[in-house]
Formats: sequence, C-alpha cells, structure tokens
Amino acid sequence: MLRIRNLEAGYGPLRVLKGVSLHISPGEVVAIIGANGAGKTTLLKTIAGILAPQAGSIALDGAEIAAVAAERIVARGCALVPEGRHVFGNMTIRENLILGGYACRRRGAKCPSIHEGLEAVYGLFPILRERCGQLAGTLSGGQQQMLAIGRALMSQPRLLMMDEPSLGVAPLVVRDLYAAVAALKQRGMTILLVEQNARAALAVADRGYVIETGQVVLEGQSWELADNPEVRRAYLGKEYSRVDEDNNHGSNRAV
Ligand SMILES: Nc1ncnc2c1ncn2[C@@H]1O[C@H](COP(=O)(O)OP(=O)(O)OP(=O)(O)O)[C@@H](O)[C@H]1O
Ligand SMILES: [Mg+2]
Repeated sequence: MLRIRNLEAGYGPLRVLKGVSLHISPGEVVAIIGANGAGKTTLLKTIAGILAPQAGSIALDGAEIAAVAAERIVARGCALVPEGRHVFGNMTIRENLILGGYACRRRGAKCPSIHEGLEAVYGLFPILRERCGQLAGTLSGGQQQMLAIGRALMSQPRLLMMDEPSLGVAPLVVRDLYAAVAALKQRGMTILLVEQNARAALAVADRGYVIETGQVVLEGQSWELADNPEVRRAYLGKEYSRVDEDNNHGSNRAV
C-alpha cells in the first residue's frame, strides 16, 4: 500500500531523514520506534505532504505522492493523527469530527454520510457521543486523542498514521486507546503507528522499524524486535524485562 524508498527530508539546511526505506502492506499495523528527535514526526509529516521531501520516493498504491499537497494526500485516503492532537479547542466534539469529514466529501461517491461517519466514531469511542456537544478544549488529554483519531477516521482513510497517541495520556486511557487501535486492525485498517512507547506499539503491531538519527537501524516482526536485546535495553526498559521474566513468557509481546 505504501512504499518509501531512500527518503530524505528536513528543515531548511537540516537533513533529518537520511535515506529511509520502508513499506506497509494492506491491513498491516506497522510500528515506528525511536527516541526523542530520531525523526519520527518528520517522517509522518513528509508522508502526509506537510513537509516536502529533499530526495527519495513515496508511493501510495503505486502512485508517487512525494510532491503532492497535503489536502490531496488526505483525499487519496492517507490520514494523519498529529503529535499533540491539535484538536480545535473552542469547537465542539461533533464540529471537530465533521471537519474531518470534509476531505472525504471531496472524494465523492464512496463516502458514507456524515451521520454514518459519526456513528462509526461514536461506536469506537462512546465517550465522544456522550460529550458530542461539549467544547473539545474541555476534554482530558486521552479524550482529545480519541477525538483526533476520530477526526482522522471521518476522512475514511485507507492508511491511518498516528504520531505518539499515548503521549501525555494516563496509563489506563492508553489501554483504551490501544484497544481502539486493535479494533481498527481487526476491521482491516492499515495503520502506521509512531511511538516512543515501544511496549504499547509492539503489542499491537505486526512489524516494526527502529529509527535512530534519521535512519532505519533495525526492522522485523514485532516479536523479533521485542526479543531483541538492544531494543529491550533502549526502548522497553527494566520494568518490561522484569514483568516479562516474572511471567516466564517465551515471547515478549504480552504486556
Ligand atoms: N520545525 C522544525 N524546524 C527545525 N528543526 C526541526 C523542526 N522539527 C523538528 N526538528 C528537528 O528535527 C529532528 C527530528 O525531529 P522529529 O520531531 O522528527 O523527531 P521525533 O522522532 O518525532 O521526536 P519526538 O519523539 O520527540 O517526537 C530533531 O533534531 C528536531 O530538533
Ligand atoms: Mg515526534
């Protein structure tokens, strides 16, 4: 569905991505793991057309999108849930969601009605239905993240990209968010998931890539990455090993 080859991108003279190559097949959930400043957000912004690539290729269903404007990329079915959520705080939840549906309406016939789109989002996140008339700014961080995901889903994407959905969200709510990601995966949604929270991401993803200073340094099945000593040391932390060993699991996926 998405194939990226030798992608280079950055800000002015600063080159952040130094030749990134990766691919996502339809229905796959792929995690991008990396520390602060590794270039994860830069990668998603470049795919989404917010940042112009300096070199390389990005193909969506075989068509080059590297020089395509952001709104046209959304219209082609590739939606981004941005880092930090960026919901419109002084608009209601319902209004935020309806805004997300505009890109879909531009795509024409295949779009479900706004009502159907809203119902699907409310089905995934019932709290948004309860609060649909409330201003988005009054929601908790985790609820705003649900809204940001819902807003992206309103464009009826085929590829959903999420940038650090668990950032600044209480652990219990992270569990709810990831239950929703798992539900979307179950329905066949293709998802590119960027996280510093490697534990949560690898638990739901099929495959993953580790990015360091703008380069892919490791890739593999999620369980392979979770078993990798370097990944465990750098991204999964002591607590992860201890819980894992206490449970005496052969695989590190269960969290
Ligand atoms: N708008 C910008 N202008 C200039 N440099 C930037 C800009 N945004 C990010 N950078 C730099 O690009 C590098 C990669 O940043 P990026 O935001 O892609 O990292 P990240 O992996 O998403 O990190 P985090 O986990 O903190 O979100 C960093 O060195 C950062 O300082
Ligand atoms: Mg980031």
